[in-house]
Amino acid sequence: MELFLDPDDPRSNTRQLYEQIRDAIDSGGLEPGDRLTPTRTVAAELRIARSSVTEVYERLTAEGHIEGRAGGGSFVLAGADPVPSGPPPAALEPTPLAASLRRYDQRPETVARFDLRSGRVDPALFPTAAWRRCVAAAAHGPATHHGDPAGNEDLRAAIAHWIGMSRGVTAGPEQVVVTSGAAHAVDLVTRVLAEPGDVVAIEEPGYPPVHELLRSHGADVVPVPVDDDGIVVDAIPPAARLVYVTPSHQYPLGVVMARSRRAQLLRWAGAHNAAVLEDDYDTEFRHTARPLEPLFRMDRDGRVIYIGTFSKTLGAAVRAGFLVTPPTLAPAITAVRQAVDWCPPPLIQDALTALIAGGHFGRHLRRARAAYSRRRDRLCRELRARLPAGYHPLPAQAGLHLTVVGPGTPPDAAFDGLAEDHGILLSSLRRTYQRRHPRDGFLVGFGGLPTADVTPAITGLCAWLSGERPR
Ligand SMILES: Cc1ncc(COP(=O)(O)O)c(C=O)c1O
Repeated sequence: MELFLDPDDPRSNTRQLYEQIRDAIDSGGLEPGDRLTPTRTVAAELRIARSSVTEVYERLTAEGHIEGRAGGGSFVLAGADPVPSGPPPAALEPTPLAASLRRYDQRPETVARFDLRSGRVDPALFPTAAWRRCVAAAAHGPATHHGDPAGNEDLRAAIAHWIGMSRGVTAGPEQVVVTSGAAHAVDLVTRVLAEPGDVVAIEEPGYPPVHELLRSHGADVVPVPVDDDGIVVDAIPPAARLVYVTPSHQYPLGVVMARSRRAQLLRWAGAHNAAVLEDDYDTEFRHTARPLEPLFRMDRDGRVIYIGTFSKTLGAAVRAGFLVTPPTLAPAITAVRQAVDWCPPPLIQDALTALIAGGHFGRHLRRARAAYSRRRDRLCRELRARLPAGYHPLPAQAGLHLTVVGPGTPPDAAFDGLAEDHGILLSSLRRTYQRRHPRDGFLVGFGGLPTADVTPAITGLCAWLSGERPR
């Protein structure tokens, strides 16, 4: 425990030390069994006589708060319960905007037998052995400097090569910025291209964390409906500076933005001098048709920023993603990134570089894609065969979830009962809408659902939808 002495405090040095240690014990900051800093060390650090510190420790011993042990050292004794600390001090309050932000809480700590929430990935498919080797090789000592804010060049080159091969996104390493996930990429771009009060368009329904993120920048966020071809371009407000879309696999409906709609969106952006943020968050897991050409590739004006993430392919532990920017924006995005948190963690970058460049990532993707595709096929079959009348799954060619619409879907408050009665965690479709009159339904995430659990999970889900309580 760090102890302090305030020279302006009218209390004596011993009184100040005594009260700090007592407060720590009473509040639970120091717990039974914790060792106190040796008197010699305290005296040297605070530049006071050792006898003053000994006096404090002797008093605490006499009062039964600590004890000296034979092998040396003073330890906190189990004694009275910590004194409740009362209401926390409340001098500071967030701004009204910050206070209005909602946590998109998937309650990661909640456990249930079947986790059907979207955004999960299967830990059993994680390339643990290869990742361990890459992390161990990267942990060669402390980094001596922060590094390039855009990410180290080897990693940017590896990402540029990989997305060039897998998605036809042709860009040099100087256009790639490594981020802490897709949301961080949206954050950086927004800082560079929008000012508080600017209009920003998002899809409705859409990805709630990005809605809150854009709001946190003071943007005037306008949800724009999505139809069977993607975002309805004619409904985008003419003043929009940024348009955030998920064209490969609309979140959450799964719609693939039609080629004609992509062209229309780019024409619209050109006519309104707007930027398009293309979030390609789960394109690695494409189960059926070939992907359409990304907006980034179709763009002739330098208006599209392409965003990718490792959250689906490697899970949350790596917490990494990237953006690909038109060359004109690269210096500003890099400068902003440095201002915010300087650079991506060097250890993660080195490990990720080794994983991709060493071919492990490619092998992992092939294996995971095959496993998830099998699981998805099984899930589709089960849902089609067993969902009660009125419910139907929307077509989805990619990703790790399917969306089911059904006007009879129980209210969101009833989802807790689903967990309690049937051991199933599920994400509501309504929560992905910002405006009223959302469509009823739910997302069935299969990332966290082992294939063997598909049938029992869907049995429980269908029973719940039919109003059955387990006996
Ligand atoms: C639309 C969308 N974008 C991005 C992500 C991933 O974001 P991040 O990379 O910040 O974890 C998700 C995760 O489910 C998503 O649904």
